[in-house]
Amino acid sequence: MIIEGLLTTANQAGVPHVAPMGPLVDEQLRTWLLRPYRTSCTFQNLQLRPYCTFHIIDDVLPVVRLILGHDAGLLMDYHDCGAWVLRDACRWFHLEVTQQNCSQLRTELSCRLIDQQELRAHGGWNRAQHSILEIAILVTRTHLTGISPICEQMRELQTIVDKTGGSREVEAWELLRTFVTQYRESENLE
Ligand SMILES: Cc1cc2nc3c(=O)[nH]c(=O)nc-3n(C[C@H](O)[C@H](O)[C@H](O)COP(=O)(O)O)c2cc1C
Repeated sequence: MIIEGLLTTANQAGVPHVAPMGPLVDEQLRTWLLRPYRTSCTFQNLQLRPYCTFHIIDDVLPVVRLILGHDAGLLMDYHDCGAWVLRDACRWFHLEVTQQNCSQLRTELSCRLIDQQELRAHGGWNRAQHSILEIAILVTRTHLTGISPICEQMRELQTIVDKTGGSREVEAWELLRTFVTQYRESENLE
């Protein structure tokens, strides 16, 4: 299965980077296959230092802020094992890339689990969060699909967000709406 979360890597100078990522995992979370695009900063970092930390989270606001290029305001701690750990995560997994297939634009990096820790309980399922994740993924593909599929999906999911979202989800949704509005305005200017 694929789980969505946040991945921290570090560049050669040791400066951490965080990006939303959806690795393929087994149900026991022991085997990990990351699939970053060759063009991503995450991939470039992993070529320099083959270590990363995947985080299970229950807040979609930083995901949306990151994909829109805003400051996500995430706090990180450097762990003894070499992991950059997000303080607000529910659980983290420190990984080492052991094998890679970079023949396609979307690479496949097999990882070994080095260490893991549960920091707190997951907040539970929320339909607004899942709806926002769907739109966030679509937003990262706008250069391939254009804006229309996003507008269509947002219209369908609006009621769920209104009915089930809390303040974090409302803020994330508003950021996505602003992105769509600005994108359409820029299209009309062309
Ligand atoms: C929930 C979610 C999952 C994602 N999973 C992946 C992924 O598996 N591989 C990938 O290359 N980009 C993925 N993306 C998109 C990247 O986060 C995004 O394109 C980012 O700009 C690339 O990462 P970078 O900051 O390392 O350049 C995902 C985005 C979201 C919102």
